[in-house]
Amino acid sequence: MTKFDQQKICVQMTIQFALAIALHQLGTIIWIGGMFFAHSALRLFARRKLDPAQRLPLVLAVFRRFFIHVWIAAALLWVSGFWIAGGIYRPDMGWHVYAMILLALLISILFFFIYLVPYRIMRKLIAVQDWPAAEVRLVLMRRLFLVNLLLGLAAVSLGSAGYLLQQK
Ligand code: HEM
Repeated sequence: MTKFDQQKICVQMTIQFALAIALHQLGTIIWIGGMFFAHSALRLFARRKLDPAQRLPLVLAVFRRFFIHVWIAAALLWVSGFWIAGGIYRPDMGWHVYAMILLALLISILFFFIYLVPYRIMRKLIAVQDWPAAEVRLVLMRRLFLVNLLLGLAAVSLGSAGYLLQQK
């Protein structure tokens, strides 16, 4: 292999790495940032200012849109994560990457559960305007979202600063 070929491979690897990191960050911002906004801003406003008949349809409309983006963000995170880990980056990954994968697994499972159980039931209850029962599902979703947000923030911290803990 000539020096030119080696340089070409190096440039290609750098571009691939930049793309994978950018997609990973994009997925992080959309998913974790979205949960942060929903929990810290939207939830407080909606609870204080709106009654259930206004609040629940609003929350449903927001979740309906947000969840589409979460599916895309989750796919981006998993694909780009394995792209960075497996294909491009350091051959010797630190424990922080394994911890991030574990957290990502928990976050994804919890999201599947939220989507398939309380969210689906809440949708049906809102359709028949059963506000008290829908509220019960919303409270459960809120708690699970908080857990997911905390796990997500831990994953972000590990992803961005974890490599510093690897240095001996
Ligand atoms: C909710 C899930 C996840 C979040 C929030 C997350 C977040 C992050 C963040 C913020 C970074 C720093 C990126 C940078 O250097 O600019 C990162 C790095 C990384 N992520 Fe993730 N990630 C998640 C899931 C995954 C998954 C499933 C994998 C799969 C292998 C993965 C593999 C990696 C790798 C290899 C790095 C580079 C680590 C390093 O620089 O030492 N991540 N992640």
